Amino acid sequence: MINLKFTYEQALEFVSKEQIHGYQEEINKHYEAIYNKTGKGNDYLGWVDLPEHMDDAFLDEINNTAESLKAKSEVAVVIGIGGSYLGARAVIDALSHHFSQLRKEKTLQVLFAGQNISEDYLTDLLEVLDQKDYSLIVISKSGTTTEPAVAFRLLKNHLESKYGLEEARQRIVAITDKEKGALKQLANDEGYKTFVVPDDVGGRYSVLTPVGLLPIAVAGFDIKQLLAGAKAMKEHVKQSKAIDDNPVSGYAAVRNALYAKGMTTEIMVNYEPRLFYFTEWWKQLYGESEGKENKGIFPAGVGFTTDLHSMGQYIQEGLRNIFETVLSVENPDHTLTIPEDDKNLDKLNYIAGMPLHEVNHMAEIGTTLAHMDGGVPNLRVGIPRVNEETLGELIYFYEMACAISGYILDVNPFDQPGVEAYKKNMFALLGKPGFEKETEEIRKRL
Ligand code: PA5
Repeated sequence: MINLKFTYEQALEFVSKEQIHGYQEEINKHYEAIYNKTGKGNDYLGWVDLPEHMDDAFLDEINNTAESLKAKSEVAVVIGIGGSYLGARAVIDALSHHFSQLRKEKTLQVLFAGQNISEDYLTDLLEVLDQKDYSLIVISKSGTTTEPAVAFRLLKNHLESKYGLEEARQRIVAITDKEKGALKQLANDEGYKTFVVPDDVGGRYSVLTPVGLLPIAVAGFDIKQLLAGAKAMKEHVKQSKAIDDNPVSGYAAVRNALYAKGMTTEIMVNYEPRLFYFTEWWKQLYGESEGKENKGIFPAGVGFTTDLHSMGQYIQEGLRNIFETVLSVENPDHTLTIPEDDKNLDKLNYIAGMPLHEVNHMAEIGTTLAHMDGGVPNLRVGIPRVNEETLGELIYFYEMACAISGYILDVNPFDQPGVEAYKKNMFALLGKPGFEKETEEIRKRL
């Protein structure tokens, strides 16, 4: 039994049921390629079985490590970039109090570093850490990614001067490859507690490994429920491949049918600010998986109603190559109604007594209809509320749909060769040993 509901009725003005169902046979084959590991990138299918592989004993080990970090820290800094950070941030942000940093109750704060190379960002972070007890969770599968390596070097130095070498070692957990890479070697040399990023799980599919699970546990959330949600989705997806019974098949089929009709941009829409980073996670998952060989749907994200006042005009009347997928939350965690006002100068008394969620919901329906009228097909992924279980379902749903969609596009959804291009230029410009030829070539272009 799953909570997630996928509906595509609001796309049927733009693409027919026949066209959507035309993908069924192909989708069936792609499931077989995934389950039998015969398709492109089949070395990276470890995420498919993570809901079972992350068993209770292993999750207890993660929870125990989280508890030992929490016992001595007011802040945990998670260092990582791309797939080594977005999944954890997506789940933590979705489950956290919106203003947790300003609340009186003493809860451990999770901060992030290594996702940029900004001098000002890291300076501000170090300044805050001067005043706080903290620990580091450093995550890099390759162990050689520049951004987290730079941040870790700075933060490790800070931690060691603050606590001394031995105590600093107790405050660092490394999540990396099981045997290779600079971070693994350092962790061995220094005796850090380590967790492994499985060989067969790529960064953007790794949120249900320690990469996502340890930061999420440190933030105080229930990783067993997260995995339970993912497992429920996994079992549901296995029961039927049919487009109208299986949300993964449905989503993969409709978005590809729309793409075939020239809808080359998909906008993920949410009406809950807490889902901002979930959208960022989804953007990486789909952007890195599909955008290659001059193909792929461009994944964009907006938060409504906020962005209706910035992007709404474009979506309503701009270039007609977009469709929207609304990630819709049916129930809020709280009730807050609009108060009556004697003066009624803002003319809001007609909705006095109405819960805000209902206003938000009407905004959602009104916007969907307006965008359809403006030529924007709408898909809807609904969940009853935001919690660990529904986030687990969403994660598995989007991962599997991404793999199937990538196979429909006939690309390898598990590699990211294009990410290397900027690194090569940056290394050449920085004068990294081994990049002398590239440095020469780049100088000629400047
Ligand atoms: O999805 C991916 O593979 C990438 O986004 C990586 O996760 C990202 O580049 C970070 O790599 P690493 O974990 O090796 O530092």
